[in-house]
Amino acid sequence: MATIISFINYKGGVGKTTTTFHIGCGLAMFEPKMRVLLIDADPQTNLTFLCADFPQWEKQIETVGSLESVYSAYLKGENKPLRDLIWKRPMTRPELANIDLVPSTIELLDIDLRLQSRTKAATTIQEVAQIHLDQRSILAHAIEGIADDYDYILIDCPPNLYLATQNALYASDGYLVTLLPDHFSTVGVNFLDRKIHQLIRERNLSEQIVDPVNKRVTALDYFLCFVKVNVTAGNTQKVAQKQMASVRSMTRFAERCFDSHTEDYKDIREATTEQLPVYLHSPGSQNDLLYRAMTKEVRTKFPLS
Ligand SMILES: Nc1ncnc2c1ncn2[C@@H]1O[C@H](COP(=O)(O)OP(=O)(O)OP(=O)(O)O)[C@@H](O)[C@H]1O
Ligand SMILES: [Mg+2]
Repeated sequence: MATIISFINYKGGVGKTTTTFHIGCGLAMFEPKMRVLLIDADPQTNLTFLCADFPQWEKQIETVGSLESVYSAYLKGENKPLRDLIWKRPMTRPELANIDLVPSTIELLDIDLRLQSRTKAATTIQEVAQIHLDQRSILAHAIEGIADDYDYILIDCPPNLYLATQNALYASDGYLVTLLPDHFSTVGVNFLDRKIHQLIRERNLSEQIVDPVNKRVTALDYFLCFVKVNVTAGNTQKVAQKQMASVRSMTRFAERCFDSHTEDYKDIREATTEQLPVYLHSPGSQNDLLYRAMTKEVRTKFPLS
């Protein structure tokens, strides 16, 4: 069974996609090599375009479909297993042969509206709870048939906590929050943590309402990691160190922060422009070493199922 991890933060531009891509590539490249499925759950399709070119993607979408096909099928009362949508080996480099992708499209953007507009009126509390669970378990059901084909499934979430992200959470064993070491992120991480735990509580409550005999309680493994840490000596670096220390000292996060981090350095931007992980584009660079360390930590903090 694959270990399924969502990369989450409702803030934009905090390294979710870059980290999903690098952890995925790291897990697939470094011994022991893992079988990895990347799922792009963001209508911005950034993860998709880190792995593939536009013409290849267009052909894939026309002939096979994208993650959005899972939700469209659900809205038609049908099932679309994720197996039918997997793009095998989207990247040509032999080192990345262990990576498959479920690509995204912009059509995922209004999935919440489409799901809500088709919601049947509920008359009992059980019906309300069942609809709540159904609308958030669409991705989990689609993944069921392929969980044995991979060691890790990584889901890149959009910068919000709406239904596409909630579906990712319902499908996951755990989640990793990527954080910038700045004031807004330090404040925001508390809100994010509370909100995600509220979503998990609502899920457990709905499950108990639908099936009172079942006492199963969902709890997800979760960790925080700092990315794009400023390395220019001076005040900005001091602020970054102070913000990281402040999050690490909060009781609720003390045991949950990764030791590893990544730095704000041009190697990442240069590598991603070439659609490559830093490991292949600039071996020996800062973020090559740092993302290797982070990949190792993912293996221990989110062990194989
Ligand atoms: N360690 C790093 N060093 C330097 N730049 C980085 C690093 N990680 C990410 N970036 C850059 O920061 C920008 C935002 O990163 P990314 O797209 O991964 O964030 P995101 O959280 O997925 O954004 P969104 O919320 O829009 O999906 C990108 O230009 C990326 O190249
Ligand atoms: Mg992103």
